[in-house]
Amino acid sequence: MSRAIVTGASGGLGLEFAKLLAADRYDLALAARSGDKLEAIAAELRDRHGVSVETLAMDLSGPGAAADVLARVPECDVLINNAGFATNGRFDEIAEERIREEVMLDVLTLTELTRAYLPGMRARGSGRILNVASTAGFLPGPFMAVYYAAKAYVISFSQAVAEESRGTGVTVTCLCPGATATGFADRANAKETLLFKRHVADAASVALAGYRGMMRGRDLVIPGISNKLVPLAARLSPRRLLLWFSRKSVE
Ligand SMILES: NC(=O)c1ccc[n+]([C@@H]2O[C@H](COP(=O)([O-])OP(=O)(O)OC[C@H]3O[C@@H](n4cnc5c(N)ncnc54)[C@H](OP(=O)(O)O)[C@@H]3O)[C@@H](O)[C@H]2O)c1
Repeated sequence: MSRAIVTGASGGLGLEFAKLLAADRYDLALAARSGDKLEAIAAELRDRHGVSVETLAMDLSGPGAAADVLARVPECDVLINNAGFATNGRFDEIAEERIREEVMLDVLTLTELTRAYLPGMRARGSGRILNVASTAGFLPGPFMAVYYAAKAYVISFSQAVAEESRGTGVTVTCLCPGATATGFADRANAKETLLFKRHVADAASVALAGYRGMMRGRDLVIPGISNKLVPLAARLSPRRLLLWFSRKSVE
């Protein structure tokens, strides 16, 4: 049986990815901080699908987190780098520790996990990596500056490694959701922003779009018609207008 790792699997999109993988009979390693939630999810997926599920209750924003995951799960066929969070607020007022955690989780751990599992996948001539970015990665985000920049990194990084991997049997897919109903807005203190007061997609359909795109080996998946317009608008709009619009969405 094939093995998949999902980070941030204790809720939201990560939980939906775990359900899709289990239904396709992947053995799972699920990582997040909330060990109790992971155990409950693992028990349900084992019962329902007869797959093996290992839980990795750990903080993925700590140094060496990717190495710890690799030590516990030496090989995988599917890696879903999903864990991430945002912080809504003026950059100079956000606690330095929170900024560090955000960059570590959203950028560094994702990069190091990709580096950890890619060589094995290439050696075996097959593998799927799904990196969860955001439509936020297509434009600068005043009042969520670090998050938008981190997701721009994830898009650029994923597309570059996808290109390096072409023809090897390994694919790297970048999923760019727009606002989605998960625990994300609450954690980011962004529930009252315009971004989350307009259309909010449901987590199951966003995860399914990403999952299918990953299985088909697509480089980039942007679920939802209005979200597909974001990269285009970001390229064509005058910069000042783009920044104003972006600021109004999250301020
Ligand atoms: N929801 C949206 O509107 C939206 C839009 C675009 C992109 N995204 C992206 O989608 C991904 C999934 O987010 P979501 O919407 O599903 O949000 P969520 O419901 O808040 O889920 C985030 C997951 O990440 C885990 N996590 C957070 N900090 C962690 C840490 N330090 N160490 C280990 N695990 C950690 C959380 O588990 P624990 O708290 O148990 O650790 C949880 O399982 C993120 O990369 C996010 O940036 C979300």
